[in-house]
Amino acid sequence: MSEKRIFSGIKPTGDLTLGSYIGAIKNWVELQNEYLCLYCIVDMHAITIRNDPETLRRRSLEQLAQYVASGLDPERNIIYIQSHVPQHAELSWILGCYSMLGELNRMTQYKDKVSKGEENLNAGIYTYPVLMAADILLYQSDLVPVGEDQKQHVELCRDIAIRFNHVYGETFKVPEPFVPKVGARIKSLTDPESKMSKSDDDPQGSIFIMDSPDQILKKVKRAVTDMENRVTFDTEKQPGISNLMTIYSSATGKDFDVITEEFEGKGYGAFKNAVAEAVIELLRPIREKSEEILADRAYLTEIYTSGAKRAAELAEPTLKLVVEKLGFVPRG
Ligand code: AMP
Ligand code: TRP
Repeated sequence: MSEKRIFSGIKPTGDLTLGSYIGAIKNWVELQNEYLCLYCIVDMHAITIRNDPETLRRRSLEQLAQYVASGLDPERNIIYIQSHVPQHAELSWILGCYSMLGELNRMTQYKDKVSKGEENLNAGIYTYPVLMAADILLYQSDLVPVGEDQKQHVELCRDIAIRFNHVYGETFKVPEPFVPKVGARIKSLTDPESKMSKSDDDPQGSIFIMDSPDQILKKVKRAVTDMENRVTFDTEKQPGISNLMTIYSSATGKDFDVITEEFEGKGYGAFKNAVAEAVIELLRPIREKSEEILADRAYLTEIYTSGAKRAAELAEPTLKLVVEKLGFVPRG
């Protein structure tokens, strides 16, 4: 295998946020020149929570349009929908038999749900990281670009690959997580202690990729700050301002020192206006392009159909190797 591979995905459970853009998609765009990249809409992960069927279908297509509008080239990259490539589910079952209950019990995403006392937790929520490992290992991926919150899942994926390779000999490439230095965990604007999330109960805390300039300006202006009145990066004392600095830095490429200097003695009002302006300009072309692409249903169908075909071709040799190693009788 000469070409290095990347796999990443986002589940279509809500509208994409500035957090998922800065933490993941922005890096996907940068990596597409150097790697063979598979960027997936992980709809099978989405059904671990209950969705209205029409909404799930709409969100999956919108997410596809937003991937392309963000700058992912559908010819150079393999962009597709997870449920269209059944090899993910097949490998997931197999890897479940090589995942330990103790490991799954330690996954913070699952533990958080349990500790919040959420009722009726289904088995899919528990085995979610196994399906994610299957996504990654199926393609012999080298690198997995994700935000901070997914690092633990990628580490579990590595452990599963190492365990399988130990029993059966070299089968899977052991992947590395790729987490950005700035912006790996964008916080909520209204609660800078918690992650900006597409499923947040408070939509004022999240900026969505499809938000209008007016909505963005309002949300940034209302963002929680502090009484220090200095634009300095200090996540302990000034979590809200530090979060806005991270957003501003990701949108403009400016370092924290440069930002502090730029707003020396200017007050939070001026800083917030500049942050809002930068985010508006960052998202404007993506929103406009998404709307254009979304209107062309035939183009979307073509992208996900050819994506799934190419993905399945890459997945098949791995699955073949795995079932041979396990001792399944080859298909006739
Ligand atoms: P999600 O939107 O939760 O499905 O996550 C999609 C991708 O975006 C994953 O790689 C996450 O790690 C990343 N991500 C989601 N929210 C944030 C955030 N607030 N800050 C940074 N990265 C994020
Ligand atoms: N679990 C990831 C999230 O919640 C989405 C995901 C599924 C993923 N499979 C993946 C990310 C494989 C990277 C690689 O964001």
